[in-house]
Amino acid sequence: MILTTTTEEQTISLGKKIGLFLKDGDVIALQGTLAAGKTTLTKGIALGLDIEEPVTSPTFTLISEYEGRLHLYHMDAYRLDCAEAFIDLGVEDYLGERGVCIIEWSERVMEELPSSTILISIEHTDGENRTITITNWPYGELSI
Ligand SMILES: Nc1ncnc2c1ncn2[C@@H]1O[C@H](COP(=O)(O)OP(=O)(O)OP(=O)(O)O)[C@@H](O)[C@H]1O
Ligand SMILES: [Mg+2]
Repeated sequence: MILTTTTEEQTISLGKKIGLFLKDGDVIALQGTLAAGKTTLTKGIALGLDIEEPVTSPTFTLISEYEGRLHLYHMDAYRLDCAEAFIDLGVEDYLGERGVCIIEWSERVMEELPSSTILISIEHTDGENRTITITNWPYGELSI
């Protein structure tokens, strides 16, 4: 599934639609360069999970947790050197368990993620345009 957003608000709105579908145990691997829109999309997903607390980038905390309709673990692998460091964070206890896991910079840790992981790649095409490619999506049709 390939969708294009032309504003930050559209990416948040798409995230919200994604969040409405999610179930306990879902893992979302986000890929894309700096400022592609990974955290922005996650803000929308949190809205779809009825999370009221504002979502901030987990770049420094590595893992942030939020409570809504489902629990959200929002992780960032940017500062990790290797997949082992990711495992050292104890993420195996979260993956596929209660709650939803979203991992930014997941390129670095793909081999540690379940095969059911939903992959969302965000490409900054030009200006405010983002091409968002979703693979392994198990739910219904998504639109902007
Ligand atoms: N269509 C769009 N979708 C998402 N963000 C957009 C869009 N157009 C412009 N932006 C801007 O791009 C930036 C995206 O930042 P964001 O923190 O979401 O990226 P990120 O991929 O999480 O970056 P990082 O790798 O630093 O974690 C924001 O400043 C946002 O306003
Ligand atoms: Mg981010």
